[in-house]
Amino acid sequence: MDNFLFYSKNNDLSIENIRNSISENSIIGKEILYFQTITSTNTVALELASNNCKEGTVIIADMQTNGKGRLGRKWISPMGKNLYMSIILKPEIPLKDAQILTLFSAISCAHAIKKLHKLNVLIKWPNDLMVNNKKLGGILTEIKNEPKRISFAVIGIGLNINLERKDLPEDIREKATSLKEELGRNVSRTDTMIAILEELERIYNLLLKFGKTFIIGEYLKMSSTIGKDIKVIMNDTNIIGTA
Ligand code: BTN
Repeated sequence: MDNFLFYSKNNDLSIENIRNSISENSIIGKEILYFQTITSTNTVALELASNNCKEGTVIIADMQTNGKGRLGRKWISPMGKNLYMSIILKPEIPLKDAQILTLFSAISCAHAIKKLHKLNVLIKWPNDLMVNNKKLGGILTEIKNEPKRISFAVIGIGLNINLERKDLPEDIREKATSLKEELGRNVSRTDTMIAILEELERIYNLLLKFGKTFIIGEYLKMSSTIGKDIKVIMNDTNIIGTA
């Protein structure tokens, strides 16, 4: 399944280094599957999870041909520039709390990027990772559920790493950014991925131990939405207020 030839020669994504960074007792990353090209890491993760693969399995790709964003949008996924990954989780949490999985993932990414790259990442409700008011990445959580509980969740993370403004369609050029654009240099996808997996593992364990209150507390500290004037659009009704 791995394509060692491709990534050993000219690819800054070292799956070997990522695998070696996972500690023995980790839930997340025990199994890491790499694809050079994939339709969507989320789509493949959903198939694997339906076939009962291990909790914590991570799917990483160098390029997606059908990357999915929220609300049926397309996620721009050019070869070798960004991180595209999905993680399969099977948390014992009620279905009504499923949204907490997106928040925990967003918080983990934000912490990892802050620690490694010293950038102030904020979370725009519910799933956008923002730097200097521009979108750096996003999270797409897809869930298979039983009547009241989650059977499994696929957390899809897309993070712009070495994407340049010119790689983006004009309509989103002013709204999106990448680590390279923010830092003014190329950024290692391997190091960024390792930092993210580390934080996901740490914060997932805190979620399992202390429950959702802990995650909500962390989210409030990092939210770019709370306290702002907002407009909520629901079917035909617009509600204006303060988040
Ligand atoms: C959004 O902000 O709309 C969510 C974007 C999520 C994109 C990631 S890239 C890896 C994973 N696979 C997908 O097809 N989508 C998610």
